Amino acid sequence: MREPVIAGNWKMYKTIGQAVQFAEKLKAAAIPGGCRVVICPPFTALPAVSGVLRGTPIGLGAQNMHHREEGAFTGEVSPLMLKDAGCRYVILGHSERRQYFGETDRDVNLKVAAALDHQITPIVCVGELLEEREAGRTGEVVARQVLGCLNGLNAGQAERLIIAYEPVWAIGTGRTASAGDAQQVNRLIRDLLAENFGREVAQQVPILYGGSVKPGNAGELTAQPDIDGALVGGASLDPDSFIAIIRSAVSCKQ
Ligand code: 13P
Repeated sequence: MREPVIAGNWKMYKTIGQAVQFAEKLKAAAIPGGCRVVICPPFTALPAVSGVLRGTPIGLGAQNMHHREEGAFTGEVSPLMLKDAGCRYVILGHSERRQYFGETDRDVNLKVAAALDHQITPIVCVGELLEEREAGRTGEVVARQVLGCLNGLNAGQAERLIIAYEPVWAIGTGRTASAGDAQQVNRLIRDLLAENFGREVAQQVPILYGGSVKPGNAGELTAQPDIDGALVGGASLDPDSFIAIIRSAVSCKQ
């Protein structure tokens, strides 16, 4: 049985002080067992939040990473630096990175391999645009992204991944994919993993859903057999709603 994963992507929100306050509150909350909780603050807050979370099971992740260890890459942050700041996870290929910063599947592929090389768990994001969904191209687009981002990995590497299906039209819009539609795409991703890395790996990899997840819809989504948790944006910024999502996801999987 896969343990549910609930990850909060804070995007470009929260100062160091605000991030620490959130982490203190999360640490003090009675988080149910049997799930993995991860928060992904902005780079500036990582070391401080890492200090608060030390000794707790709550994981810390970054929202992006360069694939090289060091070099003349102004403005970039490397896997070594993320580890140094206490990160065990990194979100890669988020649709906002693809849309506003021109990231391609090839870029994401390099970053995924680099993260795995450094024992950082990548949370690899894929998802179709509204026009692609309306044109009936969801399956084709998601498959291309998954295969592109995971190109060249072996089964031992693939089993250490987390994948997040985030339909772009559902991000920050209040529009959620129906639980049935999201389940269908997550199932397709699992089938692709099975074809490429074997059934055992496919059964092991957590495949999350992201896009307007809230306390009110988290249960229905994560109750689906191939939805192993959520990547939460807006609703992860408030500790009470993030904790409510965690509780709801865990109780649905029991
Ligand atoms: P929202 O939950 O705000 O729709 O954002 C989803 C997301 O992009 C998480 O990575």
